[in-house]
Amino acid sequence: MRATPLSHSVGEGQAVRANTPHSPFPTPHSPLIALLFYEPSTRTRGAFEQACVLLGYHPLVITASASSIQKGESLADTVRTLCAQGVSAIALRHPQAGSAQLASRFSSVPVLNAGDGAHEHPTQALLDLYTLWEQFGKPDPETRWLEGRKIAIVGDIRHSRVARSNLTLLTQYGAQVWLCAPPTLLPDTPLPNAYLTHDIRQALEGAEVVMTLRLQIERMQQGLLTSLSAYRRDYQINAERLRNVHPNCMVMHPGPIQRGIEISDEVADSVASLILRQVQNGVYARLACLEWALGH
Ligand code: NCD
Repeated sequence: MRATPLSHSVGEGQAVRANTPHSPFPTPHSPLIALLFYEPSTRTRGAFEQACVLLGYHPLVITASASSIQKGESLADTVRTLCAQGVSAIALRHPQAGSAQLASRFSSVPVLNAGDGAHEHPTQALLDLYTLWEQFGKPDPETRWLEGRKIAIVGDIRHSRVARSNLTLLTQYGAQVWLCAPPTLLPDTPLPNAYLTHDIRQALEGAEVVMTLRLQIERMQQGLLTSLSAYRRDYQINAERLRNVHPNCMVMHPGPIQRGIEISDEVADSVASLILRQVQNGVYARLACLEWALGH
């Protein structure tokens, strides 16, 4: 793949192998990769854990609720501590935008961004791109193989790192990306190369892919969402809404899905749904990213 959206969060020149000089243990030992998660996660964390094991590493899982982060330890000190414990890489999920980049400044090993606030979620975009690449018949990856295809991302765009990373990556392959949300859930700042709308019919018209997003209530200030039933009425991706979109329209969702809100049961469980395929591809995407970061 041409794109390297992880590069901004991996410290320069820090791709190191297992059994590095950082390790305090005599070799051979089971090398470690830290999964440092300050926010809840099922798919991303699970996929990183599986990828670690498949690569022969032991995942050292640190969650904010059960670590010294609760006692006020800074991100910098937690990262320094993990490096002193001999980890070969760190996958970081954090509620603040820019945290992966910040962590890489204090880390002697590569830091992979597993989601930083509403900013970026590069491994999610890679797995989504890979899923589409499979669905479109594995075209030459060196070409702009999404050229002429319309992709609508619908939901809480304002708080979505998934939407931002997908916009960056999918447009590099030529996709026309539409971002659709109620006016209060569209971003304040302009997003390059995006078509923004609050009109769902305009967003869906001719779309070959519809990616729907969860309402991130935990990141919302009060007043951004007028009512859940109005949201469901105006923006839910359901069979009725997809009827005249595109004959082969595919539906994606990064998860977790909230059935009956942003997506109906019938669509989530339909043949058009790629949701579980995305989950499977999540393991491959993290495997590839870890291999690349570790310099294998
Ligand atoms: C997303 C995330 O955490 O950004 N999920 C994921 O990683 N698969 C989206 C969300 O939380 O709604």
